[in-house]
Amino acid sequence: MNKLLLIIPFLILASTYYVFRSDGLLMDSTTEDSYLEPDTNPGCANVTFTQWKKCMYEANIPKCDSLPENQRSGCYGASYLATQQMWPSVPTSTCACTQFWKYYERASANDPIDQNGYYHKCFSKVFLIRDAQSDNFYYNKIYAPQYLTCAGLKKY
Ligand SMILES: *[C@@H]1O[C@H](CO)[C@@H](O)[C@H](O)[C@H]1NC(C)=O
Repeated sequence: MNKLLLIIPFLILASTYYVFRSDGLLMDSTTEDSYLEPDTNPGCANVTFTQWKKCMYEANIPKCDSLPENQRSGCYGASYLATQQMWPSVPTSTCACTQFWKYYERASANDPIDQNGYYHKCFSKVFLIRDAQSDNFYYNKIYAPQYLTCAGLKKY
């Protein structure tokens, strides 16, 4: 087979990748500055752990398992992708998320959730939001209410 035929798809892939990378918003998931919430007066600035948890409790957030069994896999998939970036003790977790959960461990109920901006840098991360959006149910019923609107952030 002509080698050129193999090289062309590779070049197309490589240039697509380059275009993605040169778009300021779509950077590597380890880059800390690609999040959507502004640093100046973020929506979550004055929200405390008490308010955040009360809101989540009242919102009665479902789980992927609340879906009929044959509709769960997309939700599990999005949840897995999101978890890889935001959960403590996951090596691929972003720096801001790791810092947030460390703070969470020792914070008091009336402390603000966005100490040092870790909260908004973690949960409004472009890659994390994009992965959460890969499943409608996961994003609209679980991720957005729990981590965005209950925390005072916009639902992007
Ligand atoms: C947080 O509180 C400060 C001081 O009271 C206020 O200026 C600011 O607008 C509040 N931020 C939000 C997002 O409500």
